Amino acid sequence: MRAITINGFGDVPRLTDQPVPEPGAGVIQVAVEAAATNPLDLAIASGSLKAIGEYRFPLTLGMDGAGVVTAVGEGVTEFRVGQRVFGQFWGRPLRSGTFAEVAVVEATPAFGALTTIPDGVPSHVAAALPTSGMTALGALEHLRIPDGGTLLVIGGPGGVGSFALQLARAAGHEVVATASNADQLHDMDVEVVLRGTEPLDDVVRRTSPDAVLDTVGDREVMRRVKAALKDGATVLSTAFGLDDPALDYRLDRKPERLEAVSGLQPLVGLEVPLEDAPRVLTGELRSPRGKTVLRVA
Ligand SMILES: NC(=O)c1ccc[n+]([C@@H]2O[C@H](COP(=O)([O-])OP(=O)(O)OC[C@H]3O[C@@H](n4cnc5c(N)ncnc54)[C@H](OP(=O)(O)O)[C@@H]3O)[C@@H](O)[C@H]2O)c1
Repeated sequence: MRAITINGFGDVPRLTDQPVPEPGAGVIQVAVEAAATNPLDLAIASGSLKAIGEYRFPLTLGMDGAGVVTAVGEGVTEFRVGQRVFGQFWGRPLRSGTFAEVAVVEATPAFGALTTIPDGVPSHVAAALPTSGMTALGALEHLRIPDGGTLLVIGGPGGVGSFALQLARAAGHEVVATASNADQLHDMDVEVVLRGTEPLDDVVRRTSPDAVLDTVGDREVMRRVKAALKDGATVLSTAFGLDDPALDYRLDRKPERLEAVSGLQPLVGLEVPLEDAPRVLTGELRSPRGKTVLRVA
């Protein structure tokens, strides 16, 4: 089967031919129809997350994906053959991810989450939901924005940012979002602050947000943003951009959050075939906004 693999941490991801992985006990085999990229894929490939999880090489990259269950290992009760599933395929060990024609993962992944795809949701939509959608949902919950309050999203057009601003608008909040060009968010009903046009601490003083979600991780900028916040405002970073680790948001409660994102509509800015994944991972191909989906089947 075709798969995007690395032979060791730091290796350049390549399209290779791999044997079809078979499911052992507690594991399911999925014919992947679509996958989506995240910064997490590069973090895995670089080895920066090697303290979290176990890895086997050659390692097929890809956390987010959607497809059809084609076999189940002994003892699997959660899923059956023929069901459509999606989620974050982060198992232990991680060996056989979603950037491939076939993936295998524990039915209850050690670090990720899997569930069935609701009827009517296409695989290329489901694949774009898991990591970014769950993260935005969880971060907003922890930010506790008051009714009708204002949220500032730093990195509005990104995977996490695009879900966060949609969720916040749907909840009735005002949203201010940074972007590198105005077209990225023209249809999102948010106030756009073009990157580099106004210092972000001035934006905070001008718009007086009740909450700030940072997805970019510039510590210098975030120090000034934090100092400019009004009393009672909350701030979290998914990109570890704050000096206080208590203000880092790490995706929590994945299984329940995955159920909650299954009805969302992702913003997908780029769809390419599986073989283009290495060009996406190196940044040669970039989504202008939102998610990048890999069409596999
Ligand atoms: N802690 C967790 O559990 C968790 C979970 C998910 C993600 N994350 C992290 O959250 C971060 C965002 O993830 P993502 O999936 O949203 O990434 P992404 O899709 O690559 O989006 C990144 C965003 O950052 C913006 N950006 C990049 N460089 C910038 C700069 N120098 N100044 C201002 N904005 C800049 C981009 O803006 P333009 O589009 O305008 O260039 C884009 O909106 C990543 O660090 C990721 O690792 C953490």
